[in-house]
Amino acid sequence: MNAAKPIDFPYDSRYADVLGSSMHYVEHGSGDPILFLHGQPTWSYLWRNVLPELEGKGRLIAVDLIGYGLSDRPDLAYDVEDHIRYLDAFIDNLGLDRLTIVGHDWGSFFGFHFARRHPERVKALAFMEALLLPVPGYEAFDEQTREFFQTLRASQENAERMMVDENQFIEGVLPALTQRELTQHELDAYRAPWANPADRRILCKFPQKLCIGGEPAAIRDMQMAYMDWLETSTLAKLIVHAEPGVLIPPETAAWYAQKLPNTETVNVGPGLHYIQEDRPGEIGSAIADWMDRHDP
Ligand code: BEZ
Repeated sequence: MNAAKPIDFPYDSRYADVLGSSMHYVEHGSGDPILFLHGQPTWSYLWRNVLPELEGKGRLIAVDLIGYGLSDRPDLAYDVEDHIRYLDAFIDNLGLDRLTIVGHDWGSFFGFHFARRHPERVKALAFMEALLLPVPGYEAFDEQTREFFQTLRASQENAERMMVDENQFIEGVLPALTQRELTQHELDAYRAPWANPADRRILCKFPQKLCIGGEPAAIRDMQMAYMDWLETSTLAKLIVHAEPGVLIPPETAAWYAQKLPNTETVNVGPGLHYIQEDRPGEIGSAIADWMDRHDP
């Protein structure tokens, strides 16, 4: 355990013993599980204002990826493959089946990758600001985002300066890609897991591994494999998007809805990348309505 739980996150904390380390999650309610997967640089706290809208809809479980939030930080490379191993073991440990997976950012990548490999254990997929098709190239980003990724990926030294010394994902990216101003308390809740600068080396990995222009090829292959699967799977899918969004703007959401069977989209209003901070109630009620329709 790495930090105290903030008071505005009043869900019961649990810890699962996963591959010899402790993974933190919050759990509430009963029924078929609804698993919430966060991305970079957040933790289960991200979902605190979404979860109340889903009360009564199932067993709500929001987990912290290994190394993130209140989960342990074992000595790992924190490669994408490490996260996959730990998340697979977490899902097995809790015996989760008939899953609805709700994913954001890298959390969506892990949700899609799991669903492709274990479709019999998954009932439905809801996702937002998600990693669907790989980013075609740096030119797809606005100037600031392009420069951020290019500089960070130019060397390990740059990555460590930006993540470890300057804590840019927490101090820069998170507030810049949230539309409202996060309160000091909220910022502190996101900062707390990364209070020790040495731990922030973990934060280098996801921006280094985000597939841009086909690289890294191993990540591209995983994304293309789950995209191929999503294009044939009739599983219920919901794309939650904001305006303008970052990774999935409204027109991209509409395009994916045409491409992927049994896919609905919902526009939750103004937002950028961390839309759970701007539109949590709208996200929660959109997921609840969709669940009522596909799984009454
Ligand atoms: C990411 O973590 O994948 C990401 C964050 C902000 C903008 C684009 C990508």
